[in-house]
Amino acid sequence: MKIVVIGATGTIGKAVVAALEGRHEIVKVANRSGDLRVDIADTGSIRKLFERVGRFDALVSAVGKVHFGELAKLTEKEMAIGLNHKLMGQVNLVLIGRDHINDEGSFTLTSGILSRDPIRYGAAASLVNGALEAFAPAAAIELPRGIRINVVSPGVLLESMPTFGEYFRGHEPVQASRVANAYVKSVEGRLTGKVFDV
Ligand SMILES: NC(=O)c1ccc[n+]([C@@H]2O[C@H](COP(=O)([O-])OP(=O)(O)OC[C@H]3O[C@@H](n4cnc5c(N)ncnc54)[C@H](OP(=O)(O)O)[C@@H]3O)[C@@H](O)[C@H]2O)c1
Repeated sequence: MKIVVIGATGTIGKAVVAALEGRHEIVKVANRSGDLRVDIADTGSIRKLFERVGRFDALVSAVGKVHFGELAKLTEKEMAIGLNHKLMGQVNLVLIGRDHINDEGSFTLTSGILSRDPIRYGAAASLVNGALEAFAPAAAIELPRGIRINVVSPGVLLESMPTFGEYFRGHEPVQASRVANAYVKSVEGRLTGKVFDV
């Protein structure tokens, strides 16, 4: 399969590439490096990316910024970061990518544990993750040509504990290689409309 991985240089993206690249052609996409570059917050940039990629069989998105901060001080502008980037960035990869994906292809997006297990300072992330997890099952009903869509919802990664550990006290961190298996299941299996909690 020809698989486009958005966020291929990130903590999750690198593990996904490692899990898939032995068996497939991988197009590694990131913002500042990679085979190709995109800004997922810019629909023009997404359109150009798909024109360069051509037809493909699967897209994995392991990308998305959100603002973490105290609810009492959270502004509309800060809330919009996650809505424009992690939520609509990934949704637009589907809305624009559906015209370029082959029959029976698949989209795999990334949400996160805060949809179901909230933490202090995480309201914006919970909002976006919940929206992504509601979008995929609904989109799965209507996507044409046997195209599938799933969301992977990882817990905090072991590899990210130095950065996020203090916000996730008591959470069971999960290794990137284990998270990557959920993306493999989504891409190489036949399930659709699912949220894979890891
Ligand atoms: N890490 C965790 O513990 C964890 C847990 C649950 C969910 N998640 C979610 O998983 C996703 C990826 O997390 P991560 O920790 O792997 O992130 P990361 O290590 O920061 O990597 C982010 C990746 O996205 C790319 N990127 C950044 N801005 C972009 C843009 N505007 N357009 C296109 N690509 C862009 C980066 O490319 P450049 O390096 O070129 O900028 C990089 O490849 C995020 O949505 C995050 O919320 C992460």
